[in-house]
This record gives sequence, C-alpha cells and structure tokens, in this order.
Amino acid sequence: MRAHEAGALHGDLGFSGPSWLRTPENVNALVPQLWAKTVERATNGEISVGGVNVRKIAEDHGTPAYVFDEADFRARCKAFKEAFGGAEVFYAGKAFIATAIVRILVEEGLSLDVCTGGELAVALRGGMPPERIGLHGNNKSVAELTRAVEAGVGRIIVDSFDEIDRLTAIAKQTATRPKVMVRVTVGVEAHTHEYIATAHEDQKFGFSLSGGAAAKAVDKILTEDVLVLRGLHSHIGSQIFDTSGFEVSARRLLSLQAAIHDKYKIELPELDLGGGFGIAYTTQDTPAEPRDLATDLMRIVKQECAALQLSVPHLSIEPGRAIVGPAMFTLYEVGTVKDVDGIRTYVSVDGGMSDNIRTALYDAAYSATVASRASAEPPILARVVGKHCEAGDIIVKDEFLPADVRAGDLLAVPGTGAYCRSMASNYNHVPRPPVVAVVDGESRVIVRRETEDDLLKLDVG
Ligand code: LLP
Repeated sequence: MRAHEAGALHGDLGFSGPSWLRTPENVNALVPQLWAKTVERATNGEISVGGVNVRKIAEDHGTPAYVFDEADFRARCKAFKEAFGGAEVFYAGKAFIATAIVRILVEEGLSLDVCTGGELAVALRGGMPPERIGLHGNNKSVAELTRAVEAGVGRIIVDSFDEIDRLTAIAKQTATRPKVMVRVTVGVEAHTHEYIATAHEDQKFGFSLSGGAAAKAVDKILTEDVLVLRGLHSHIGSQIFDTSGFEVSARRLLSLQAAIHDKYKIELPELDLGGGFGIAYTTQDTPAEPRDLATDLMRIVKQECAALQLSVPHLSIEPGRAIVGPAMFTLYEVGTVKDVDGIRTYVSVDGGMSDNIRTALYDAAYSATVASRASAEPPILARVVGKHCEAGDIIVKDEFLPADVRAGDLLAVPGTGAYCRSMASNYNHVPRPPVVAVVDGESRVIVRRETEDDLLKLDVG
C-alpha cells in the first residue's frame, strides 16, 4: 500500500493487484491445480463437474451451494492411502464432516479424527468403526470423554493433565483401559498464518517438549498404569508446503521416544505427525503430491529411528484440507456489479463471509471464475464480496474476471471444501448453503440448505 495525503487507502488508487497475481491470457481458462478433477469448461462456456453443468446444479439446488466432486474426494483419499502405504490415514473431520463423507471414508479405508462430541456423533452415525476414530481437543468434557470411552474410540489424544485425571477416573469407573496418545508441542512454528500454527510453544494445544511437560505426561500415564499409552502425537500447523517442519517435529518426537525407551524399556508402538498439508487456493500455491510427502516423511522417520536404535513405530497422519479442500467449489450467483471509480470493480454474490469466513479471518486468498458462460471481453481486476452488512465481507480479495461480468452470472470459487461449510455461520440470519455431491452425471444433496424456519425455530421467544 502506498502512502497518500488523504489516508492510506487512497494510496491504493490504480492498484493492479498483488504482485503474484498475473493478468490471465485467457480469462475463461481454468487453472487445473485449483479445481476438482472432474471440473471442465464445455465449448458453450459452461462449467460442469461430475458430468453435471453448473446451470443445472443452480436450477435444481439453488445458490449459493457448496458443490462436492465425489470422484475427486475419493481419488485424494486413495492417493494418501496408497502413498503412505502401511501408515494409517486419519481424515481430519474438522475440515468438513457429514455422514455421507464418513461413509465414503469407510469405503476408502481411511480412519477419522474428530475433536468434539458433535463430530464424534456424526462419525458414529456415518458408520465409522469406533476403533478407527481418534478424539482430539484441548478441553474435552467429562461427557465427551465418557461417550468416547463407551463407544470404544480407538485413541484419545490427551492434551492436559486435567484430562489425564478425568480420563483415568472414567476408565476406573467403567473398568476400561482407554488407548491414548500424548499431544506434544514440539516447538516448530510452521510457515503459515499465526492463528493456524499450532506446535510453537505459546499456544493452548499439547504438552510442551522443551518445558518437560510432555515427559511428565508420559510418566504420569505409565506410572498410573490405567490408560494405555500408544504413542506420541504432534500437529505443527496448517497449509504447509514443505516437509522441513515435519522433519524437525519427527526428530523431536523421536528423541522423546528414545528417552522413554531408556527409562521404561518400552517402545511406544505409534507415532502421529498430524495434518497440515497445503493446497492451491491461487496460482501462487504449489502443493506437494501425497507420494512425495510420504516419501519424505517416511524417510525422515526411518533415518531417525535407525540413528536412535529404535524400531520404526506405526506411523499415522491427519490430513483434512488436502483431501477435501480441492474437492469442492462454492457456486454463487452475481447480484450486483459496482465499478468504484477507478479503484476496482466490486462483484457482489448471494453468499459471503457466512459461508466462507477464511478471507476475513486469515486474510486467505481465493480465486474465482464466471462459471455459466465464457466471455470474449478482456480481464478486469475485481473483488468478490458477499451480501452481509459489513465492509470486510470479502470472499475473493483480488481476481481477474471478464469485463462484462454481470448480474445473473454464476460464479464459482474453488478450494472451498475445507473449513468453509464447517466454519459457516448465520451472520445476518443468512441460512447456510447446502452441500451438493455430484458424481457420474447425478447430483444429490448431502447436507440440505438451512431455511429461515430452521433459524426461527431456535428463537423460542
Ligand atoms: N490434526 C490436528 C490435530 C489438527 O488440529 C488439524 C487442524 C488437522 C489435523 C488437520 O489440518 P489440515 O490438514 O486440515 O490442515 N480453520 C483453519 C484451520 C484450522 C486447523 C485446525 N486443526 C483454516 O481454515 O485454515
């Protein structure tokens, strides 16, 4: 931003977009890494997904809608499962969960990470075998822990001394031996937005490694001998593009593993390196392929174990965004187009920060395209905004759209599968959009659109 006598914002006049954003040669072209695998633009200019064009989706289901490419999601599940070979892949349900998603995960042989009683309820309702569920959370209630224990959840990732006490009491009452992992704060600050980096020291998750809390938690669990300690866990952050953070994390976890071995003569059988693998939201993002991530991560763990003379523990990972993020786009209808004199063009759509809070919350960058037609007009720099009563209600901060973008156009924003529906709100009493799954020429609703009646039912006067 340039300085200006009338205030900093005026210095943005003539702004030509962030430096990474290139004027496209063809404003109709789809950048493949941004879109789910079956998305294509037909010769008439309309985009289709899973063999169904967006006009038909909008007619049948309305807008805004999250459009889910089931084949893409399954392909990403398979890619992670195959790449990580013997490792267990826990899909992180916080990115997006619904019973239809759980059923697909079961079919694809993935496990599931949940972090609240609500997510656990969806997991069980969707038919995930309890032993393939992991329960996370820094403040799990007695009710949540009891439910998990009674359901036979495969592992509970303990996050505080209070929780160890709570869970130990539940185990004694129910005469069970819950399996646990210790969430370790390894002191890695992944290169990501401050709010979504979770393994540096100054934050609420986990037991600190450097401060000794992690070793103490392990001591407590092993000496009390009520809970069954399966291994160590770390999650270093989200939207991470290289494996160097995971390398440091694995090294530090395994140094604790070695210390436990020396002290107790046991080798913890499991090791979880968490999730956080990045996806492409814009042309500037270059995500790694699961097989390359797997090769790197498995090599690091093997090397480190060899150096420490430990056997290689059974590895697990928890990708959420990298599996579901690219599998969805949000379909909106353009309502108004406003050219704000020489500054930029505001394209308002029928959703907004209630269906995608990530732009406002994390300054996340997204892309967009006119989905219902092709245009022969040149690209103009536009900002896609919502219908909420707030100036910060921005969905796509900077994008090139055709100069004739107009009311009635359908607009698609890719990469909205993760943390959009799951973080959606009812701000301004806007009902939340449906999730429409498309596969083999058919579309079906997997999460229905909320109605004003749904919202009014909560208002008991
Ligand atoms: N495992 C644990 C323990 C986690 O806390 C998370 C995410 C994941 C796995 C999955 O991370 P992923 O692979 O999806 O990056 N709302 C933020 C992201 C918060 C992530 C919270 N934990 C966003 O929209 O970017």
